[in-house]
Amino acid sequence: LSVDASLESAREIPATLFGIFFEEINHAGAGGLWAELVSNRGFEAGGTNTPSNINPWSIIGNESFIYVSTDKTSCFERNKVALRMEVLCDSSGSIICPPDGVGIYNPGYWGMNIEQGKTYKVILHVRSSDSVNISVSLTSSDGSQKLASTNMLANASDVSNWTKMEFLLQSEGTNRSSRFQLTTTNKCVIWFDQVSVMPLDTYMGHGFRKELASMLEDLSPRFMRFPGGTFVEGIWLRNAFRWKATIGPWEERPGHFGDVWQYWTDDGLGYFELLQLAEDLGVSPVWVINCGISRNDEVETADILPFVQEILDSIEFARGSSNSTWGSARAAMGHPEPFQLNYVAIGNEDCGLKYYRGNYLKFYYAIKAAYPDIKIISNCDGSSTKLDHPADLYDFHIYTSASNMFSTNRKFDDTSRTGPKAFVSEYAVTGSDAGRGSLLAAVAEAGFLIGLERNSDVVEMASYAPLFVNANDRRWNPDAIVFNSWQQYGTPSYWMQHFFKESSGATYHPTTIKANASNSLVASAITWQSLEDENSYLKIKIVNFGNATVNLNICVTGLQNAVNSVGSTKTILTSTNLMDENSFTEPKKVVPVQTSLSNAGTQMVVAISPHSITSFDLSL
Ligand code: AHR
Repeated sequence: LSVDASLESAREIPATLFGIFFEEINHAGAGGLWAELVSNRGFEAGGTNTPSNINPWSIIGNESFIYVSTDKTSCFERNKVALRMEVLCDSSGSIICPPDGVGIYNPGYWGMNIEQGKTYKVILHVRSSDSVNISVSLTSSDGSQKLASTNMLANASDVSNWTKMEFLLQSEGTNRSSRFQLTTTNKCVIWFDQVSVMPLDTYMGHGFRKELASMLEDLSPRFMRFPGGTFVEGIWLRNAFRWKATIGPWEERPGHFGDVWQYWTDDGLGYFELLQLAEDLGVSPVWVINCGISRNDEVETADILPFVQEILDSIEFARGSSNSTWGSARAAMGHPEPFQLNYVAIGNEDCGLKYYRGNYLKFYYAIKAAYPDIKIISNCDGSSTKLDHPADLYDFHIYTSASNMFSTNRKFDDTSRTGPKAFVSEYAVTGSDAGRGSLLAAVAEAGFLIGLERNSDVVEMASYAPLFVNANDRRWNPDAIVFNSWQQYGTPSYWMQHFFKESSGATYHPTTIKANASNSLVASAITWQSLEDENSYLKIKIVNFGNATVNLNICVTGLQNAVNSVGSTKTILTSTNLMDENSFTEPKKVVPVQTSLSNAGTQMVVAISPHSITSFDLSL
């Protein structure tokens, strides 16, 4: 393997090459990255009609003690449904309440993770013409063990109108499948609405589940595409993501049923929070917009202008001054400074649909007229044929078998060097080669990414998909990060991405492989400077997709600095079996293993294991 590290043949890799794609799929956000513990906090899942779907809220006590229903008496205009709880029993009198009281509970998203010593903020809205004495508590899944509780006490006159109540609960124990309860032993009629329980400790204090956000940070991504995917389109337009319904006070957000992935989201993780997440991770947001097209219905181009205006408004929300109409809405949410929004993708996988091209042009010209610097991404694949419409980038998605993925590392070698750049916004090995995230898939994907690095003069961005899965509701396999209420682990494809986290903005150096097994080997080389130790490194990555060990002589020419074996390392991702996966019980079965590289130099004899990703990091 020869590496030409001379200045003459070096090339800069785009600063945005590798990023992440966040889609509300598999409960990635609701019941995932968004740390809200209550599911269906406004009792609205299933829409605005009553009786409404209060699932997963459940009733504590039988019908002789309590009667629960929904009506449309909420103080929140966009989500009128409230829960009415009529308690028929009392602490004395003809019907005596059970000692632990009656009421309602919410188990969150397959159980709440409540941890000893941690504080949880409860906010709820209440109304009653009776005096109120309610126990607000976090308990074990059957209610038998109280982890934290307080009493909500109010005179009837204080709660005769809707009243917001807030409590801090500090847990005295740990239980991974807890529930939140509102119970009483007093006869009353009481309404509840918009009930929230959030841990106080979240990523950057902005409401993101810390461990999951940290796993994103650890990938050193450079951009974040959001919020979908098909989630943006909807099966029907009426269920598509509409950003205006996801901003402002959380209590006033109507929430919506994502009909593609078939679950309700309260939209706590809305447009603002996703821009905030991008800012917190230090990445460029890539805003995927609905262009009036869902999987089943389309807005004709003649009628698309209201949709265009809605997107112009969304850009003003992100970038406008705090005096502008929508910029002031952002400022009111606590972010007076604009967000750095520089990429807008028009639609998702919509190229070829009847009104895509017409609608696209309306969006394109309107956005470019108002924001000429925004880079616009088309859904049409320009890798083989020239696009028939203007674009800065075109979207390219690939889900395929491991061998196809590996051989697609050549895909962009022949792409025209002029015209829009490629944004490989979704790639993954799927099907039987991938299972729920196999070593085989990761190795093939690494081979593909080496091809993107090599072609990073025409490929500007790439992201794996999907990013997250809540193991309790797998809508798509495989995914990069698997979690439940309290655990998380990366699949081999997550760890594969760690081999590429220094690539964005690095310097690319050509490599040549002359080996018998060269069909199953791909390699790349970059130099980059670490911000941590300010040291420069030459990173040589080699992917062996074959089933035999390959002995290689590595020969580096043209380096400006000498190689220092101190600080040089070798990192390898492999495992005993091709289909090995990580799991909650063995989260680190397939993870990169780093060792020091004592023979680091410009000439090295190395053995590359079968089905592996290997990185030689030479300290310069
Ligand atoms: O990543 C999962 C889905 O795959 C996305 O929603 C869609 O864009 C693609 O078909």
